[in-house]
Parts: sequence; structure tokens; C-alpha cells
Amino acid sequence: MPDLDDLQDGKNYHIGVPMQSNAFFLKGSNSLDWGMKNRLARVFNPATGRTVMLAVDHGYFQGPTTGLERIDISIVPLVPYADALMITRGALRTSIPAEMSKPVVLRATGGQSILKELSNELVAVDIEDAVRLNASALAVQVYIGSAHEHQSIGNLVKVVDAGNRQGIPTLAVTGVGKELARDAKYLGLATRICAEMGAHFVKTYFCEKGFARVAAACPVPLVIAGGKKLPELEALQMAYVAIDQGAAGVDMGRNIFQCDAPIAMIQAVRAVVHDQEKPDKAYELYLSLKKDAPRTGPSAGVPNRSRS
Ligand code: R5P
Repeated sequence: MPDLDDLQDGKNYHIGVPMQSNAFFLKGSNSLDWGMKNRLARVFNPATGRTVMLAVDHGYFQGPTTGLERIDISIVPLVPYADALMITRGALRTSIPAEMSKPVVLRATGGQSILKELSNELVAVDIEDAVRLNASALAVQVYIGSAHEHQSIGNLVKVVDAGNRQGIPTLAVTGVGKELARDAKYLGLATRICAEMGAHFVKTYFCEKGFARVAAACPVPLVIAGGKKLPELEALQMAYVAIDQGAAGVDMGRNIFQCDAPIAMIQAVRAVVHDQEKPDKAYELYLSLKKDAPRTGPSAGVPNRSRS
């Protein structure tokens, strides 16, 4: 029973002090409901407005790609350094300890493989399962200009609507068919369509020319994919320029987990994204951390395990 003794009138009404009504820190997100904003504020760091997401969802169409053969061994040690983990439900349930407190951006489309047409995807996670997994966001691939463009936009619409009902934001990922150029014209078209269809943030590729226009014309935060493995300094330069030109972070996979020293690399990427460290300084940081770091990348051997 509630305690009714000693009831007192409150005195601290701060009459005359207007209640604060601050704009939410992420672009295009001010009209969202509290739960949606709260989840976005887990994926993006409110102090910097940016994120370093670690993308490890490649197996959903590529199988055990280099660096992801054993997510339990190669990825779990990286998780503490990421702001969010982009992953499939299968990898999450089997290979990531539930004690992990990082937000999950759950891969929500799939249904094809590298052996077939990549754009032929469907919604691959029920919203109830996303809630069960405590997802902070859902990720949907959208293939503008590819064979199944219409179907992939339909997948985005379905996931956005399902996520909106539960307060879970949706990340649209712009998949670019092999025959298409990753230039500002294409990326501007793809990212804008994703945002207009209701995506709460969008993942795309960086392009050398005109990326600032792509970022400016996308009314929600943009994060960039790392793409194929580059020399570390080049990957850091790409992240730096993308942030400088308006990206709100990275969702990087191979350029982190395919490094010889992934823990050093993710910290160098963090320095660029959150502290706007210059690429050469961040590279120096990478080299100095690499000297002491355990090698967990693809060239590392199998760890010694005592038999229990
Ligand atoms: C897109 O196809 C998937 O989300 C990839 O698994 C992810 O975007 C790739 O990230 P990265 O290009 O940095 O390896």
C-alpha cells in the first residue's frame, strides 16, 4: 500500500522558469517520438552527434567472408570500441554474448546470395523478433536502379511502418549494383529516395566528387560504408573527408575487421569520427596501438585454448 503519512505540499515549482524544449541533436529527427529518439541516441553519440558502427552482417549474402569466419573470436573483442553493432539475428544469437550493452542495428532484409541477383531481397525479420532481440534499429538494403528496385523500396516501406509501430528506427542501406556508378548523382538519388520513404538514417558510399551535396540533400543522418579493404591510411582519409563533408559517422566492416590490428584500427576510426583527428595523426595512433595490440585480424592464428 502506498505510504500516505507525512504528505507535504511541493514548493519547488520554479514558477517563471520556462520548461526547456530543446531540439533533438540529429538532423531530421526532431518530430520523432521519445522511444525512437532514445534508440537513435544510443546509436549516435549525443556528445558528438556521430557514430562508429561496426558492420559485421556480410554473411547474410556472402557466407563466411574473410575476417568473419568466427564472429565469436574476431568480432566480440571489437564490440567495446564500437558505438553500435550491425549484425544479423543469427550471428547475434549464436555469437555475441547477451551481456553486451551496445545497441544492435539488426539486419532486417535478405534472401539472396552472391550466386544470384543481389537486389532480390525480402523482409527477413519479423518485427516481434526485433523487439525480442532488443534491437535499437533495423537495417534494410535498398537497390535503386537494380532489377528489384521496386521490391527493395517495398521492403523499406514495410520495415519503416513496422518499426514506427514499435518506436524502432530504420537504417536504409544503399546497395549499388555492379553496373551502376557510385557517383554523387546516383548516391544523391538513392539516399534521398530512402529518406523520403521514411528511413531514419541512411548508409551509403563515399564519393570523391560531390559528397557534400549528397549529405546536404539527405534530410536524415548519413553514415558511410567502408567498402572493400583499403590501406589503413586511405580508409582513415576517406572517413575524415566524409565527416568533414557532412556524414554523421561510419558503418564500417572490412576496413576494420580485415586489418591486422582491428582493435587499433577501430580506435583510429573513432579518433577521426568523434574527435575529427586528422588522418595522418589517426594513422600514427593506429600504428602505435598496433604495436601493443593482440592480433585478432584475418592473419592471426587460432587462439590457444585450454581444454575444459
Ligand atoms: C551491405 O551490403 C552490408 O550492410 C554490408 O555487410 C556492409 O555495408 C559492408 O560494410 P563494409 O563495406 O564497410 O565492409
